[in-house]
Amino acid sequence: IPEASRQMMEAHDLLKKFYHHLLVNTKEGQEALEYLLGRGFTSETIEKFQIGYALDSWDFVYKFLTKRGYTDDILEKAGLIIFRDRDEKYFDRFRNRVMFPIMDHQGNTIAFSGRALGDDEPKYLNSPETPIFNKSQVLYNFNNARPHIRKKEQVVLFEGFADCISAVRAGVENAVATMGTALTDLHLKLIKRNTDHVLICYDSDSAGLAAANRAANMLAEAGFQVKASVMPDGLDPDDYIKKYGEKSFISDVIGSSLTYMAFKMQYLRKGKNLNNEGERIHYIEEVLSEISHLPNAVERDHYLRQLSSEFSLSLDALEQQQRKIFFAEK
Ligand code: CTP
Ligand code: MN
Ligand code: MN
Ligand code: MN
Ligand code: MN
Repeated sequence: IPEASRQMMEAHDLLKKFYHHLLVNTKEGQEALEYLLGRGFTSETIEKFQIGYALDSWDFVYKFLTKRGYTDDILEKAGLIIFRDRDEKYFDRFRNRVMFPIMDHQGNTIAFSGRALGDDEPKYLNSPETPIFNKSQVLYNFNNARPHIRKKEQVVLFEGFADCISAVRAGVENAVATMGTALTDLHLKLIKRNTDHVLICYDSDSAGLAAANRAANMLAEAGFQVKASVMPDGLDPDDYIKKYGEKSFISDVIGSSLTYMAFKMQYLRKGKNLNNEGERIHYIEEVLSEISHLPNAVERDHYLRQLSSEFSLSLDALEQQQRKIFFAEK
């Protein structure tokens, strides 16, 4: 590791400890702590994920870290301070936010994501890309989850920090989250070294379902065994756990995951009126296209039969059409 990167990680680590101290031990951190406890975070999860609080100050981090010998240049490149031309001064990037430290896969602290306490925008403020932080290759909680991913031979993929943390608390220790970006090839490589079973557990609002659909395509294409869990009423996993409890989350969401095709069929059905002939035919075409992507002939046969019986169509015709789609898409 280059010396500059080592210093950036060290500065992040010091700051993580101080943010955490501010949250749990000080009067200044009390409102943030109450916010977290009110959302259902426990002292245990606050410890485990080393969650903290950034003071409502323009230069607390700048002073704290320069006093410890870090140069302006290092701190700016690390994304912790920002230079403002207007008054030619450095100021802190994160102010008055709940701080989630981001660890790399060796456990080094390499970035932060800060959540607003109320409805301030942006909801989450993330560290920028830096020499030590590349969003497209980091999965939140991967360093803790890795042994569990290997043991359970599966990773559970979430959209948000809060979802990942609540899931871990509920016992889903093989949980990781992307950092507010789409899944990348680098994420896939990282996962592939540990397992080829992925359970997608994104938010069940329309944005989350669309993202889950894209992730499912990407993962299946890369040869993963894909499953997906869907929750009612557009909830996200964290909301679901708050509303229905951890037990129900484990059995009715994680334990009731859909196969790739079942998820696809549910997704493609959404917003279509299958009593309408045109929409019904469109749906069948889309499902046939999905079926033609399945590498396993037995699975293809299974879903063709399912379509045949649901829509009273001849298996022969469906098979013919599926092959046609297969060769057309080749
Ligand atoms: N995100 C982000 N910047 C934003 C909004 C979201 O980086 N302005 C990322 C965060 O990593 C967040 C994830 O996208 O965890 C999912 O976004 P969303 O579902 O909107 O947030 P939640 O995780 O549900 O956040 P919360 O429960 O705290 O409202
Ligand atoms: Mn502590
Ligand atoms: Mn979302
Ligand atoms: Mn969400
Ligand atoms: Mn949420």
